[in-house]
Parts: sequence; structure tokens; C-alpha cells
Amino acid sequence: MPLLEDIWHSKMLTNNGKYNGKFCRELAKLWDVEHVVTFTNGTQALLAALSCLATKEKGEIITTPFTFIATTNSIIWTGHKPVFVDINPTTLNIDVDAIERAISSETVAILAVHCYGNPCDVVALNELSLRHNIPVLYDAAHAFGVELAGESVFRFGSMSVASFHATKTFNTFEGGAVACHSAVVRDKLINFANFGFQNETTISSLGLNAKMSEFNAALGLVQLQHIDKMLAGKQYIADYYVSELSKLEGVFIPTEPNNSRLNYSYFPIFIEPNAKTDRDTLYGFLREHGYMVRRYFYPLTCDFGIPEIEERARKLDVSKARKRADEVLCLPIYSDLDVEAVYELVSLLKSKLG
Ligand SMILES: Cc1ncc(COP(=O)(O)O)c(C=O)c1O
Repeated sequence: MPLLEDIWHSKMLTNNGKYNGKFCRELAKLWDVEHVVTFTNGTQALLAALSCLATKEKGEIITTPFTFIATTNSIIWTGHKPVFVDINPTTLNIDVDAIERAISSETVAILAVHCYGNPCDVVALNELSLRHNIPVLYDAAHAFGVELAGESVFRFGSMSVASFHATKTFNTFEGGAVACHSAVVRDKLINFANFGFQNETTISSLGLNAKMSEFNAALGLVQLQHIDKMLAGKQYIADYYVSELSKLEGVFIPTEPNNSRLNYSYFPIFIEPNAKTDRDTLYGFLREHGYMVRRYFYPLTCDFGIPEIEERARKLDVSKARKRADEVLCLPIYSDLDVEAVYELVSLLKSKLG
């Protein structure tokens, strides 16, 4: 691979080399944001974002439990306390009214998730953030390429965090990034990713080694050339699933928000109580037939019983999120998924639910 040879000959395999620089600039252009800093993965990017909040105080971070564990872990690892509030059961995203009720004198931030790449109510969250003077950060791990009213979702909030893990719509095998709008925050993020070094002899804040290598950045630059094709392949499968499954009794499929461009990161369906079978029976049946369906996100991140989370979290009513976690089944969706397999999967689903 010529790119690999070029990296090798440059003698700069990591530490903000030219591929990383170019990748950050391309992402900033694509997301229409001022600054992007890359990381080894989305989890390190979340740790960095929460470590670079303007406040030095540790406090409460209001968040959703209907997410991947990394969202919650990042709050614990950075010394804050998660406050779990409920979701809107139709969009699967954090409920803005529930956030407002949970705000306390200890609240230092809101960490919302664009769940499955479905954009949060960014306008209401922005208004809430301004009114209470509390920053909103987005875990945008699922939201690469997602737009709302023609704007990239990465433009919203004080920081947005992406994951480029191999399972994501856009991947660098492993990788992540933070989009932000201020050069001060960008510099803090860069220092955090590099042990806290400000220059060769100065370290004034705690850091990690969380830098993206040149190899992963080069992979990202190559993948950027194929993103439209990948999105089109996924859209075809999503449209087919919707057309075949949305009329089945007891199956809820989230509708696309108006005026949005989605990336079909995941295709969740929810098996409600009036369906002809239950979620776990269906899961076992499809797995037996070799289909990689997943109960994603189940259980809620506040329900794993992880001691540090149990000790530190404030759990409010999350009954709607818990109900959705018990119902969810994510169907396979990736751009080169064999269409014959999709047709067979749909007919298996219909045989149990129709
Ligand atoms: C919502 C969410 N946040 C954070 C992460 C963590 O990203 P990474 O796997 O790149 O560390 C993931 C990964 O799957 C995720 O789904």
C-alpha cells in the first residue's frame, strides 16, 4: 500500500504527523466545525472531552442510560457523577424535560447521545444549555455524516465525540475524534492526548497517551472517499426493512426526523408486548439461523450493577428507557451485506411476527 510506504519513509508513525493533520482538517471541513482532534478510539475521545470541560470542579453530568457503556464509564473515569434520566421512547434520545427536572446546583454538564445516529433535539438542548449556563456535549459515536436541516450534527454542543471503531458507519479500524469550536479547547484536547505535554519541557495538566497513529489517520483519509457509497448501500437495506416490517403488529420502528440525513448506523426494531412473539425468543431464533442480530442497548448502562456506577450515580425515573431496552433488537445493516441474506432475514421475521 503506497500510503504505508510513505508513512514508513516519513519516519513519523504517530505524534501528529502529516496524515493526522490532513485527516483532522478533512473532518473539520466535512462536519463544518472549527477544530477536530483525533484519538485512538471514541472512549479516549470521550475521556478527553469530559476532562477538558471549562469547570475544574467534579460534579453531576446528566445523561441517558440508553447507550453504550463507554458513555457512562467516561463520566465515572473523569471523576464525575452520572445522573440518569429517561428517554423519549419514540426518538430513543434523552428527554429534554427530564434533563431540566434533574438540574441541580451540582450539575456541570449534559452528555447527550445521538442514539443510533438519530439526532437529539439539538435546538431545545441548546436553549436549555444557554438558559442554565450548563454545557451540552454530544456522544456522536453513531452520528458520522448525520445532518439536520442541512447542518452537520457535529456543529451543535460545546463538543461532539465520534467513534471510528470497526463496527461504525465510518471506521479507521479503531479511532475517535472530538469536534469543538474553540482553539483553547482544541489545545487542551491535544495536550490531553499527549500525556499533558504543552511543549518539550512543560506539563501542567494530567494527560493520557490517546493519539491517533498515522496508519489509522491514513485509513480514515482513504475511507472518506467511499463514504457516500457506504451510506447509499445502507440506505437501500434500511428502506427495504422499513417497507417490509413497519406494518407488522407490535413492531415499532423509529421514524426518520423531518429534514434530516441519517447514516443508518444501526437498524433497531422494538418488539412491543402486543407482538406475536417476544424479543428474546426472536433473538434466539435468528441467531440459530446464523443472523448477527444484537440486543443493543440492553441492559441499560445503569442496570449492569457495576459497583462504581452504583455508588456514584443518581438514578431518576428511567422506565421508558428500560422498556425500550427490553424490546430492542438491532438487525444487521452494512453496505456490502448480501441482499439475499436480508430477504431471508425478513421472511424469518415475518414467519414469527406476521
Ligand atoms: C454511544 C457510544 N459511545 C462511545 C463508544 C465508544 O467508542 P469506541 O469503541 O471507539 O471506544 C461507542 C462504541 O461503540 C458507542 O456506541
